Amino acid sequence: MTTKTLNIQVNARNRAYALDGTSNDKILNLGLSNAVDLPYECGSGTCGTCKARLISGEICDQWPEAPGRKFLKLKKGEFLMCQCAAKTDSVIEVESFVHTMEAGACVPAPLKGRISSVKLLTPDVIFLQIALQQTVDFDAGQFMLVQFPEIVGFRGWSMVNYERHAKTLDFVIKKKPGGELSEWLFNNNCDGVEVDLFGPMGNATFYSRLAKNILCIAGGSGIAGIMSILSRASQDGYFSQYNGDVFFGVRTMKDAFFLDELSVLRGECGEKLNITIALSEEAAPDDARTDYPLLTFDQGFVHEVAGRHMEDRYQNLRAYLAGPPPLVNGSIGMLLRARVTTDNIRYDKFS
Ligand SMILES: Cc1cc2nc3c(=O)[nH]c(=O)nc-3n(C[C@H](O)[C@H](O)[C@H](O)COP(=O)(O)OP(=O)(O)OC[C@H]3O[C@@H](n4cnc5c(N)ncnc54)[C@H](O)[C@@H]3O)c2cc1C
Ligand code: FES
Repeated sequence: MTTKTLNIQVNARNRAYALDGTSNDKILNLGLSNAVDLPYECGSGTCGTCKARLISGEICDQWPEAPGRKFLKLKKGEFLMCQCAAKTDSVIEVESFVHTMEAGACVPAPLKGRISSVKLLTPDVIFLQIALQQTVDFDAGQFMLVQFPEIVGFRGWSMVNYERHAKTLDFVIKKKPGGELSEWLFNNNCDGVEVDLFGPMGNATFYSRLAKNILCIAGGSGIAGIMSILSRASQDGYFSQYNGDVFFGVRTMKDAFFLDELSVLRGECGEKLNITIALSEEAAPDDARTDYPLLTFDQGFVHEVAGRHMEDRYQNLRAYLAGPPPLVNGSIGMLLRARVTTDNIRYDKFS
């Protein structure tokens, strides 16, 4: 297929943007890489947040079965910007206000990398490191879209590490039964495999100028972005002034990982950082408390455990949630009932 150069005009509620791109560029990625902060959440076809309406021109939908299409009014010309590229010069309309990114923002861009390290953390979670061809800046709590050769579509993965000018990106990936990429990762030797990336993405980000207590609720591989947030907070000495409450949910002790790393962070950050491991399918064995004296263990679904521990402690607080949709939805419900405002609830739903 030949690549055409074309112009896409985005009419947002507040103003219009003219973007020069090609017929290969997904419209969301084109806007974001030009520092135009188009609306999105997953960046990968499931949530429907990136919907726009085609006013004129022609587009090509690269994933017509995307689950996010259920949120669209197809008869009105709505489409998902994260899955569609323009075929001709086009004009599209986005319902919301759209602003340009602030000076100094980590503007997403296409990147290339190679898998440089793979390690099994539990029977269904792997640690995976990607060495980049170029350095990248990202904010604590952000994610990348990653595409493997021969596997169609990009997947969102949250970074575990946090540093400026990063040369490598660390991820933890949970095996999704029947999931195309995760099954492939568990059944093949992926060391050295070259991958395409796009990012950094995501608004569940942490900065020390936030100046609020933070509450983190994560399930399984959702702990990835929370590790990045804790790492940044620790580097900045954030918990000398503000409270941090972290709840990490897993089914049983054999599904738990990063407990050594969490203990180190707790040791560095001191008593204002509380880290609780919530086990949904068993009580914590006695040796867990002996092995990890700086961590707290409790039994139950992680958002319910968080609700019990946080009672009356929601003042001046920003919450970060990450993991499977039932965990994120349950946590949002709990936080809204506790009168935490929506602008202080940031999440990544691993749909
Ligand atoms: C913001 C965000 C952050 C995430 N962070 C993590 C993380 O840190 N660790 C982790 O384990 N998981 C994370 N996930 C979930 C992850 O992106 C995958 O959904 C999960 O790993 C399962 O992938 P799979 O290929 O095994 O499953 P599949 O069910 O085969 O595919 C899942 C996803 O891949 C994409 N996809 C599949 N087919 C196509 C296609 N034909 N065209 C285009 N796209 C397609 C879609 O986004 C789909 O939802 C995150 C998700 C989001 C939205
Ligand atoms: S951002 Fe496009 S469907 Fe989620």
